[in-house]
Amino acid sequence: MNARKITNKVFLMGFVDWDARLFDSLIPLPDGTSYNAYLIEGSEKTVLIDTVEPEFGDVLLDQLSAVKKLDYIVSLHAEQDHSGSIPSILAKYPEAKVITSIRAKDMLIDLLSIPENKIITVADGETLSLGDKNLEFIYTPWVHWPETMCAYLKEDKILFSCDFFGSHIATTDIYVSDEGRVYEAAKRYFAEIMMPFKKIIVKDIDKVLSKEISVIAPSHGPLYPRPSFIIDAYKDWLESPAHNKVVLPYISMHGSTKKMVDYLVSSLAQKGVTVEIFNLAVTDIGKLAIALVDAGTIVIGTPTLLSGPHPNVIYGAYLANVLRPKAKFISIIGSFGWGGKTVEILSGMISNLKVEVLNPVLTKGYPLESDFKALEVLAKEIEMKHKEQGFT
Ligand code: FEO
Repeated sequence: MNARKITNKVFLMGFVDWDARLFDSLIPLPDGTSYNAYLIEGSEKTVLIDTVEPEFGDVLLDQLSAVKKLDYIVSLHAEQDHSGSIPSILAKYPEAKVITSIRAKDMLIDLLSIPENKIITVADGETLSLGDKNLEFIYTPWVHWPETMCAYLKEDKILFSCDFFGSHIATTDIYVSDEGRVYEAAKRYFAEIMMPFKKIIVKDIDKVLSKEISVIAPSHGPLYPRPSFIIDAYKDWLESPAHNKVVLPYISMHGSTKKMVDYLVSSLAQKGVTVEIFNLAVTDIGKLAIALVDAGTIVIGTPTLLSGPHPNVIYGAYLANVLRPKAKFISIIGSFGWGGKTVEILSGMISNLKVEVLNPVLTKGYPLESDFKALEVLAKEIEMKHKEQGFT
């Protein structure tokens, strides 16, 4: 893809990765992704904002072929999908300096061996003059690392937000054309890397909203010509109460736990509680993360295997614990053959969650009528708790 014009003297560059299917060797990418870089040609200085994964650096260098002089490379975020090609760009433009936040400086040195004398740090709120254009830097920690910042091009009212507001989508469109599709991709991205830092990100949004923004230009996915779309979505994910919804990740080996899951799901549905179930043997964990964003209750379903929860359930519980969703309640259901410490082990794994634990339902062998009655009690309790909380 060639460089594409956004506004006068501002260009979208980078690499659209249609084939990417896994990010950070963890996050499924069903729609690929992009690594966006931006070129700004001021009357006196030329700036490149962010770069691309090192393996795609040659594409970015080709896009820059007509650029004779590059004064600055702005590194908004030190993670290598954006910073990784800085060494290649510096090799082509040895006179260029790297501009980054104070905290990112050491990261760029540690991760990419960028010489210290090539780096200029900027403070929160500092402005860089490009001649007829001015770039202001806004520290926005934890979107997605602690060193991250945004850049605001005052004359064009463009916010370059890096991971913040990004979505993993490969597309030829410069701008968002299907908000529904981008909503889900952006929610997946938010759930997996930003949800744990909700309280800080609320403040980041307030900071960037102090600017008049015409376009948000993230470093993954298409640009937002209607910034309120993604800002309102973030505010909802961050601040709105949880929904009247149960997320139920589970594993079943011989059908006992599945029978209990089916009963509980049916009972909750009859009571008007939405349930999203995820068979952890086959699920896309990105979908699970999305569902966790606004779930009121988490119910974990597991058989007992080698004295404890099934390993896939341990993985799911660990993920939920580190993502710190806003759920207020949690419970465990499942079966065992002769004993074990499933409840104790899972309870010890969710210390990050600010949740009330509702009575687990564990059955010895295949569930009997008394077990279904206990599940009915659990469903009723979830219904009542959600009503008390005002979850809708
Ligand atoms: Fe797109 Fe945190 O890197």
